Amino acid sequence: MTSPDRSPQKRPEKRLFVKTWGCQMNVYDSARMADVLAPLGYAPSDTPEGADMVILNTCHIREKASEKLFSELGRLRAAKEATGGRMVLAVAGCVAQAEGAEITARAPFVDIVLGPQSYHRLPEMVARASRAAGAVIDTDFPTEEKFDHLPEVSAPQGPIAFLTIQEGCDKFCSFCVVPYTRGAEYSRPAAAVVAEAKRLVAQGAREIALLGQNVNAYHGEGPDGRSWSLGRLLREMAGIEGLDRLRYTTSHPRDMHDDLIAAHAEIPALMPFLHLPVQSGSDRVLKLMNRGHAAADFLRIAEKLRAARADLALSSDFIAGHPGETDEDHRATLRLIEQVGFAQAFSFKYSARPGTPASGAPLQVPEAEKDRRLQEIQALLREQQVAFNRSRLGMHMDVLFTGPGRHPGQMAGRSPWLQPVHAEGGPELAGRILPCEIIATHPNSLAARIVGGARSGDPPNQEKAAA
Ligand code: SAH
Ligand code: SF4
Ligand code: F3S
Repeated sequence: MTSPDRSPQKRPEKRLFVKTWGCQMNVYDSARMADVLAPLGYAPSDTPEGADMVILNTCHIREKASEKLFSELGRLRAAKEATGGRMVLAVAGCVAQAEGAEITARAPFVDIVLGPQSYHRLPEMVARASRAAGAVIDTDFPTEEKFDHLPEVSAPQGPIAFLTIQEGCDKFCSFCVVPYTRGAEYSRPAAAVVAEAKRLVAQGAREIALLGQNVNAYHGEGPDGRSWSLGRLLREMAGIEGLDRLRYTTSHPRDMHDDLIAAHAEIPALMPFLHLPVQSGSDRVLKLMNRGHAAADFLRIAEKLRAARADLALSSDFIAGHPGETDEDHRATLRLIEQVGFAQAFSFKYSARPGTPASGAPLQVPEAEKDRRLQEIQALLREQQVAFNRSRLGMHMDVLFTGPGRHPGQMAGRSPWLQPVHAEGGPELAGRILPCEIIATHPNSLAARIVGGARSGDPPNQEKAAA
């Protein structure tokens, strides 16, 4: 095992282009791969053309997501040829994990195929790729933990940062590839998470989203030697100076324990918005999906969360047309959506994934029927989202400004409910949390007017970092 070379000596700069699909965890992983390669002299590039190395960080969750890899590889072939074959082309992420052999067969010009648990070995693979005739493939689930071998976070993420605290999944929902592509559930030790959060804050983060495929199943080792729950970890994180906002995603209803719900009442920094996928409102389908809870459990959790924090809004994921889903089941999903009321949500047509139990199940729902159900779900969710955004009109809320907006003289930010917000202002607002009044609402965003000066917690990070 070689560990990444961290010596500061100057090396000739090479250009690295990373393209990312899929969930936030892939976004986080892409940044960490760039961190691992930085000591080898690789600096980020905005385009693949002429790059010394290209990494495609892929997603396998639905068929459409995986196919994007192969169309991108077609385009990159020419870019690689234009470098005289010098470009190192790597495929990472969940498609690499699931379809390593198919990738090298369909695209023999790929140099490296690496699964999500191998990123710490990337420098070694780059060295091997320069010597090897064929592709270097590393899709093992190693026994050593990659987080112990990754360098410290180096590239600043800005005012909103992501931090992976848990990875993998042991839940094996009938439709889902994640347990196969990401492996068994693993939680990072609490001390490592807190140390990374402090580094992110020192680099300018004011909001941190803790990430995990099942983030609320977190059970990392605490500094006291005990297993810490997510609620315990959040209480610790709330004490980090300069960290004003906390979120966590994605959660599973089965792990939504009372201690975590109570954290929403206790921790003001914990934002009043929670993504809690339910997938279906039919008990029969939930059972077929192996979700391990009933629709009523979800309703109860939603109620408890709102009792803990009255302004809490929910987001969720839905699947239309899981094998065995009848029209009656579908209507139960619509009913659940109506009962709960969502501020936002994602919904997908069921996509059969190779190797998952549902892909071979009887009673696959015809494509046209899946389409119809999806459209009904989306129309209802859309209505709820528009209504939720509208309900913010005239409201005063803190907005965390992140960077320039779409138009000149405009800045973009996020509301406590993760809604994109824009307001008139200059770049000096980036990284500041300012009280705003919502002056207009749109289906996907809010328009605001800044109504006050610095809130407690300001002055902004730029000054903090300079101090
Ligand atoms: N770990 C999270 C979500 C993982 S994937 C959880 O347990 O909820 C994100 C979303 O993709 C899922 O919530 C689900 O709605 C959707 N999804 C996963 N597999 C799918 C499939 N085979 N077809 C359609 N949607 C799928
Ligand atoms: Fe996939 Fe289910 Fe695990 Fe979520 S809980 S990652 S949907 S298997
Ligand atoms: Fe996709 Fe893998 Fe994330 S399949 S959703 S990139 S865990």
